[in-house]
Amino acid sequence: MDIANEIKKNTNEIFEKISRVIPEIEWNFHAPFIHKINKLKKEKNAIILAHNYQTPEIYHGIADLAADSLALAVEASKTKADIIVMCGVHFMAETAKLMSPQKKILLPDMMAGCSLSSSITGKEVRLLKEKYPGVPVVSYVNTSADVKAETDVCCTSANAVKVVESLGVKKVIFLPDEYLAKYVASQTKVEIISWKGTCIVHEKFTANEINEVKKNNPGIKIIAHPECPPDVIKASDFTGSTTGMINYVNKNQPKKVMMVTECSMSDNVEVENPNVQFIKPCNLCPHMKKITLPKILECLEKESNEIIIPNNQMLKARNSVERMIKIGR
Ligand code: 13P
Ligand code: SF4
Repeated sequence: MDIANEIKKNTNEIFEKISRVIPEIEWNFHAPFIHKINKLKKEKNAIILAHNYQTPEIYHGIADLAADSLALAVEASKTKADIIVMCGVHFMAETAKLMSPQKKILLPDMMAGCSLSSSITGKEVRLLKEKYPGVPVVSYVNTSADVKAETDVCCTSANAVKVVESLGVKKVIFLPDEYLAKYVASQTKVEIISWKGTCIVHEKFTANEINEVKKNNPGIKIIAHPECPPDVIKASDFTGSTTGMINYVNKNQPKKVMMVTECSMSDNVEVENPNVQFIKPCNLCPHMKKITLPKILECLEKESNEIIIPNNQMLKARNSVERMIKIGR
């Protein structure tokens, strides 16, 4: 079989699935990469983990698991693969390394960062602990290993309230997302001391924008990520992690929905929900969008961009993630 036919044979099923969101002209560029990556990952016993914000050709074309940050951390702790390619951002790859220190963890673009993660350093957490002695630190996984090493327990948007309440204390330091902290504070009696970090994607949404969409689309369901500002969450019908948002659509099959989050989410979920109409005002995450098929192929071929965590951070940072995984969703 010539190579063009081999590519077609091995990728046609994927194209049929995602042709609603990817035009054929674009697909002709993606297909050879998808074919090569899927072949190579088998040869190398590699697994590809992708965050829900990855583009449809990655999410539906090559990912062994596409999920929210919590599920990615759990999968990284139990996979039998030798190599994990993290299609997501740097803190996700670091978290995978913490959970699988013996494995090779690769990130296709080392510059794929996160505004939340870069909003705070380990040193700043130490200063906060001095200011509030004895108050436990809960950090969002969207932080560096340096910050996780100063943290008692991590959380994600899927379990933040549960993690905070699991500590059985009156007050916690909750880092670094100011809006997630406000959301958690609205759901619990525990006093929350917050930081000033924000997600550059979710902070841009406004209640005015949501109310305008509601006015123009009677009956629409608005589902928002908890990294959004409080008035946006208030104007929404449901709030949850990216996987929580996907589950909401899968289960409720609303006629019309708007996912108040990163752009690729709606494309990815639309593929599996042909009866739901998606209204798509969205904001792009420039970090997530740094991950592309050519970069994934190159990093898997060369086994480049390996994540290394300094020994002095490894054990402490790992403990804070392990503690979170034990608490669960
Ligand atoms: P979750 O997938 O955990 O909801 O996280 C959203 C996010 O912004 C990750 O960068
Ligand atoms: Fe960070 Fe926001 Fe991008 Fe997620 S969407 S990686 S929280 S900047």
